[in-house]
Amino acid sequence: MILKGRYTASEHRYDDEGFYARCGRSGVLLPKVSLGFWHNFGGVDPYERSRAITHYAFDNGITHFDLANNYGPPYGSAEETMGRLMDDDFRPYRDELFISSKAGYDMWPGPYGNWGSRKYLMASLDQSLQRMHLDYVDLFYSHRLDPLTPLEETLQALVDIVRQGKALYVGISNWPLEQLKVGERYLREHDVPLLIYQGRLNMIDKKPMESGILDFCKERGIGFIAFSPLAQGLLTDRYLNGIPDDSRMAKERTLKSERLTPELLSYVQELRAKAEANGQSTSEAALRWVLEQEGVTSVLIGASSVAQLESNLRCAR
Ligand SMILES: NC(=O)c1ccc[n+]([C@@H]2O[C@H](COP(=O)([O-])OP(=O)(O)OC[C@H]3O[C@@H](n4cnc5c(N)ncnc54)[C@H](OP(=O)(O)O)[C@@H]3O)[C@@H](O)[C@H]2O)c1
Repeated sequence: MILKGRYTASEHRYDDEGFYARCGRSGVLLPKVSLGFWHNFGGVDPYERSRAITHYAFDNGITHFDLANNYGPPYGSAEETMGRLMDDDFRPYRDELFISSKAGYDMWPGPYGNWGSRKYLMASLDQSLQRMHLDYVDLFYSHRLDPLTPLEETLQALVDIVRQGKALYVGISNWPLEQLKVGERYLREHDVPLLIYQGRLNMIDKKPMESGILDFCKERGIGFIAFSPLAQGLLTDRYLNGIPDDSRMAKERTLKSERLTPELLSYVQELRAKAEANGQSTSEAALRWVLEQEGVTSVLIGASSVAQLESNLRCAR
């Protein structure tokens, strides 16, 4: 609620205790639905819409916001939006929020603005903290494996970031199983246990299950957060009648129209019919499937409107 220009969070935000799941073998509880800032929170997006989505999220118990250095566009601007939100609304609630960021993809020009060197990770996190107006992040990820930097260099940078107090926990995203195993062991042996793995998992992309990553996380007490659980919107009603002008696909940035095959469309029609028969929306059914997979802590969704978020949240109620 905004009263006299000031946001006050709903006093009912924690009414549903069952909305939180333990993240692996750790002290951290995460909401079963988390909100990602990859799209819809950049400098190109209307601030008041981003703001309304985060208010609705927090008012409904979503305590985890996921960012990365390069989310926008332009790069860095989703973190700037987070910084503005901290100043405008969320500063009084800082200790109720679990905010993550990442580094691993191209961020600034030259040899030190990409991949997994200590130089890049350390500098990137400092920049992220400045943009988000935060002293620390709750969680900092290696966003992808750097095949040319020694794993130990990337991992030791994560350890030192925690020692410096700039992140409370560390995570790994998109690393293959073999390197994940090395990472898990290294971090454990350096007393900074790996909190969570972030990987793409949805009804039409089950790689973390097929590759053994989800099983490994379960076995080792590592949380698993599923990104793009709606396959960027494909597993919703969004594209059943063509490509809406305001959709992610119309913007042709990360979701190509080639994905809209007749097979995919009939798969989604079927999903929708089954969902309807159960009194659910298509997106709700797709998210429920992900949450039902043993070892999944949270679904990390995106939303371009409050209505989408509202519909998606039903998967965990
Ligand atoms: N670690 C990584 O490498 C990585 C990679 C990708 C994402 N992520 C994280 O995961 C988060 C979520 O990724 P994602 O945005 O791809 O997730 P997603 O939930 O699969 O897709 C979100 C998009 O689906 C559409 N949508 C959502 N709910 C809908 C509904 N109820 N009805 C119709 N359409 C709906 C919206 O598209 P429209 O914009 O068209 O409305 C929305 O922007 C990101 O923000 C980021 O934090 C991490």
